[in-house]
Amino acid sequence: MSVAPGVGVVHSGRWLGGVALGKPAVFVLLLLPLAWLVYAVAFNQLGANPAQALVRATGDWTLRMLCLVLALTPLRLQFDLPQLARLRRMVGVFVYFYAVLHLLSYAWFDMGFVWVDVVKDIPKRPFILVGFTAWVALSLLALTSFDRAVKWLGGKNWRRLHRSVYAVAALALLHFFWMRAAKNDLYEVAVYALVVAVLLGWRAVRALRARTRA
Ligand code: HEM
Repeated sequence: MSVAPGVGVVHSGRWLGGVALGKPAVFVLLLLPLAWLVYAVAFNQLGANPAQALVRATGDWTLRMLCLVLALTPLRLQFDLPQLARLRRMVGVFVYFYAVLHLLSYAWFDMGFVWVDVVKDIPKRPFILVGFTAWVALSLLALTSFDRAVKWLGGKNWRRLHRSVYAVAALALLHFFWMRAAKNDLYEVAVYALVVAVLLGWRAVRALRARTRA
């Protein structure tokens, strides 16, 4: 193991895409979508319907962060990049951060922050109900992402609970599919579904191999 100045710890001389990314660098990278959105709002770059663009962009970034967090373990084990383990919690918190921004954008731009209307609207529109269910499940994962929660739940229960991140991904895809199906525009949904299927497939194959070996 060696330490590269300013870029964090590099295990066994391996680098991530040629550069070992330290936590602070990844933190800044994950904030870039937000920085772009702030810039786009300030300089009127969101097109004819900025409110709708904001709700959609925050939804897109929640889903992208979710794919990223799901990809960390397969990347770590497949390419022997142990340093990725240190990023998992931070990326997970970013998934939740963008999910909260998405919910707040909807509550603000679609519902004028009238929470009674939000509560009435959620069960009325099935695709929003599915998105909200994913959000509640993500909230549980975010609330239990701290060391104290791991101790309180016990490692085994904690791991079982946090495996439900795949259920969150499935609900997020259903939410996206439902919304886009109404517009007959499913290309992007298919791309995300393929990414999640590959990542889930990787886990399933690994679990099967482990069981066969046992
Ligand atoms: C894990 C949670 C969630 C994820 C990953 C997610 C993801 C997405 C995605 C990818 C889109 C489509 C963006 C596009 O068309 O480019 C979207 C749209 C949308 N989502 Fe979510 N969402 C989540 C939760 C929620 C919640 C909790 C609500 C509200 C209660 C919500 C309300 C909406 C609305 C209103 C739209 C836009 C519909 C339109 O413009 O026609 N989402 N979401």
